Amino acid sequence: MPKSNHTAGEISDALVFFGATGDLAFKKIFPALQHMVRRGTLPCPVVGVAKSGFTVEQLIARARDSVTQHGGGVDKVAFPKLVSQLKYIDGDYADPMTFAELRQVLGDAHHPTHYLAIPPSLFATVVQSLGTSGCANGARVILEKPFGHNLESARALNQTLHKVFPEANIFRIDHYLGKETVENLLVFRFANTFLEPIWNRNYVESVQITMAESFGVQGRGKFYDETGCIRDVVQNHMLQVVGFLAMEAPSDLYPESVRNELADVLRAIPPIDITQLVRGQFQGYREEPGVAKDSPVETYAAMRMEVALWRWDGVPFFIRAGKHLPVTATEVLVRLRRPPLRKVTQRHDANYFRFRLGPDMQLSLGARVKRPGPTVVGMNVELEAVKAPKGEEEAYERLLTDALHGDATLFVREDAVEAAWAAVAPLLDDERPVHPYAPGSWGPQEADRLARDVGGWHDPVVR
Ligand code: BG6
Repeated sequence: MPKSNHTAGEISDALVFFGATGDLAFKKIFPALQHMVRRGTLPCPVVGVAKSGFTVEQLIARARDSVTQHGGGVDKVAFPKLVSQLKYIDGDYADPMTFAELRQVLGDAHHPTHYLAIPPSLFATVVQSLGTSGCANGARVILEKPFGHNLESARALNQTLHKVFPEANIFRIDHYLGKETVENLLVFRFANTFLEPIWNRNYVESVQITMAESFGVQGRGKFYDETGCIRDVVQNHMLQVVGFLAMEAPSDLYPESVRNELADVLRAIPPIDITQLVRGQFQGYREEPGVAKDSPVETYAAMRMEVALWRWDGVPFFIRAGKHLPVTATEVLVRLRRPPLRKVTQRHDANYFRFRLGPDMQLSLGARVKRPGPTVVGMNVELEAVKAPKGEEEAYERLLTDALHGDATLFVREDAVEAAWAAVAPLLDDERPVHPYAPGSWGPQEADRLARDVGGWHDPVVR
């Protein structure tokens, strides 16, 4: 795979972020911006927009709290520099004056990037006003997930966007794509001679991804109850990971080469069979603020699916995600078929690749060796290729930097987002009641049947 030598496009000359006083800005964006200033990758003014009655001084105070709590502390050099680049517009998203003011504040910036860290119900209004105010000229737009509520609404949103921005200037965020280990999946897969020959149906027995979170809905009850686990993390994060695991080698690293391969995988996932889905809800969910007392919404989903490609014919792919599970860890396990050496290696869990995508990074390979001693007895060992407390860059820092440089490789393309919605479409209509599960457990036992024939679910261990 030759390294890309493309020029990714003009570097943006302003970053506008809508939702500047919101939760995401507080937890992720200000910390990312401070890191970017530190690395020298934020060479332009930053314009926050929100409707909270804030002054710029109040926004700065909030940014300071944000980097203190979530960004490793206030950087004595980078933070004042960020503050000197920061501007703020307090205004209603439905008011044309807000956008007239934005056009003025942008001054002679001709290639701004507009980042919409706002509820999706406001996307259309903001995008249209960016268009009519002239703020969209020569601009890029970054959209937060969730991108639509189902296939139809995702298509409608794509149409709205395309009236104002060409696809090449639209950057749909899935922050999982900004995770270091997710990108490492590609390097590990394609840069190692030993892996490529076995990365297919002949040697791989099953692939599973578990996204476990030991916490609940954390005050996001209202949002979550309109969303549920499948829309929140399966349609996006989990299916993108399937894409990275299953894709063919791109011929180079041009953004479209990688995105073509990714979209091919997502299109090859047949609509997931509802009988291969188990939905769960943790006990106590219905008492969360913002959640309906009789909520049918799942906080856990486990499913078995296939990727109908030549390479993966007959290999089951499993996805499991849930809140209030015993640990917080997202892990991929690729189990290899067993050799016919039954005595020494008779277990499903002996040969595998294990990738920990978060919160830390791990990339390891499970092997079977002889237990020292006079009898020939096997034991499992793990060879570690990567083990690090976490990625060098946080996902948001990586993604915002890439978008400012116009590099769309790690952003979700229109056809990919629609293909992912098509894959989960049958699951969104599941009217069977959710299975309750105890907080701190691995979810409802009903899910065990899905993976019984491949040695069961792999539960990530956190030490
Ligand atoms: C978000 C979901 O997209 O991803 C959350 O809305 C989830 O419900 C979060 O907790 C997990 O992200 P990460 O990077 O902490 O695994």
